[in-house]
Amino acid sequence: MNDRKLGPNDPCHCGSGKKYKKCHQAQDQSASQGAPAPAKTEARRDPLILNEEEREGMRKACAFNASVMDYIRDLVKPGMTTGAIDTLVHDYTVEHGHTPATLGYRGFTKSCCTSVNDVICHGIPGPLVLKDGDIVNVDLTSIVDGWYGDQSETLFIGDVSDLAVAVTQCSFDAMWSAIDALEPGCKVKEIGRAIQKVAKASGFSVVKDFFGHGIGRRFHQRPHVPHFAENRHGSEILRPGMCFTIEPMINTGTWRAVIDESDGWTAYTTDGGLSAQFEHTILMTETGPEVMTLTKHGPQRGHHFTSPASVKA
Ligand code: MF3
Ligand code: CO
Ligand code: CO
Repeated sequence: MNDRKLGPNDPCHCGSGKKYKKCHQAQDQSASQGAPAPAKTEARRDPLILNEEEREGMRKACAFNASVMDYIRDLVKPGMTTGAIDTLVHDYTVEHGHTPATLGYRGFTKSCCTSVNDVICHGIPGPLVLKDGDIVNVDLTSIVDGWYGDQSETLFIGDVSDLAVAVTQCSFDAMWSAIDALEPGCKVKEIGRAIQKVAKASGFSVVKDFFGHGIGRRFHQRPHVPHFAENRHGSEILRPGMCFTIEPMINTGTWRAVIDESDGWTAYTTDGGLSAQFEHTILMTETGPEVMTLTKHGPQRGHHFTSPASVKA
């Protein structure tokens, strides 16, 4: 099996955009990480190959996380702040006895990420008021009985431009195309290959600085899942029992990102172009991928996005 390690100066696998040595390297090297491992699980097995009982743990966490997405989706409206989204997510999660994973994660102070327009990812909920025409990616991660479920959707605020619809559609289609490209024992690079093909056909670009990731009893672990064709991590094999995310960030202009110096998190497109993203947590099974974060009411595979005004017209 391919066991290549990240170098200290490589971008960290968590997607922070920081160097590995400044981010998760120390944590990855320490044995006492995260929630206590259940019997029969080696704490440092990485990537985790989950047994049936462990897969059930992930199913529950991901189903709960999807229910949070179903809860907030229709509550997100013009005139509300991104901070109000965070409050809804926080309170719903805590009232159900679970934990928002981003709260306190490496200094992140909120219970979800809200990334508006030219924000690629890791937008921090706050006083920003959502207005007609905005697109906002809401990225949710819950911890349920020690297991992590992670997903995101890009939502339309009122009527949005044709370009906003197109880039949102592209990121959704790219994610599903990557899911459909998976089979047990395939390589990670199939994901980036599928995503790039969809992006290229739409004339959009794929963000290179932030990856999908293995997930389980930790938020971010191996495998690293680049969304573009890339050889460094691409030869890692997706074995039955592995859980990971696919979360392509697609930009209308350049793929280049810059992180806000004042907060250390918010990643913007360098040209101010729009960025859209969807994310699911996937389990590779013996027979193919199982999408664990499917929602009841959100866009399903094959969904066709439209702006509300174009529906009325
Ligand atoms: N949910 C994001 C992901 O998909 C990670 C957010 S980490 C945070 O991996 F600290 F920015 F919240
Ligand atoms: Co993720
Ligand atoms: Co996420």
